[in-house]
Amino acid sequence: MDKKMLIKRLNEDLAGELGAIIQYLTYAAKATGPYRPQLSQFFLTEVADEQLHAQYLANKVVALGGEPATEPRPVPAAKTNREMLEAVLAAERKATADYTQRAKEAEALGDKGLAVQLEDMVRDESGHSEETERILRDWPL
Ligand SMILES: [Fe+2]
Ligand SMILES: [Fe+2]
Repeated sequence: MDKKMLIKRLNEDLAGELGAIIQYLTYAAKATGPYRPQLSQFFLTEVADEQLHAQYLANKVVALGGEPATEPRPVPAAKTNREMLEAVLAAERKATADYTQRAKEAEALGDKGLAVQLEDMVRDESGHSEETERILRDWPL
């Protein structure tokens, strides 16, 4: 892993965050039924966190001498509330795993500031996963 590869990986992470923002915005609009108010609010609350992650990553890519990605990762198709929650859970688990790995890579390259920030992001994403898991745990349909 060299600096160039790290920039590439951070840009993949950034694409994931841009995709997450679109995913949450879209799912907030699509939530239906008696739980719509809570679900929609839950999805919209996540947008703020993902935006901060995207902002951090874009800044870091520029600081490292790269060009920040502008193409979002595609949003998985989901029809029902349950499918949306499952898609969100998969995305949050992936983000947790990716940042866990990225923090190790940053540490190995001697960028402690980046490693610490990525570990903070592991905490955020695993919090999102756990919240989504609990919503799904007793999901009625
Ligand atoms: Fe995120
Ligand atoms: Fe997240």
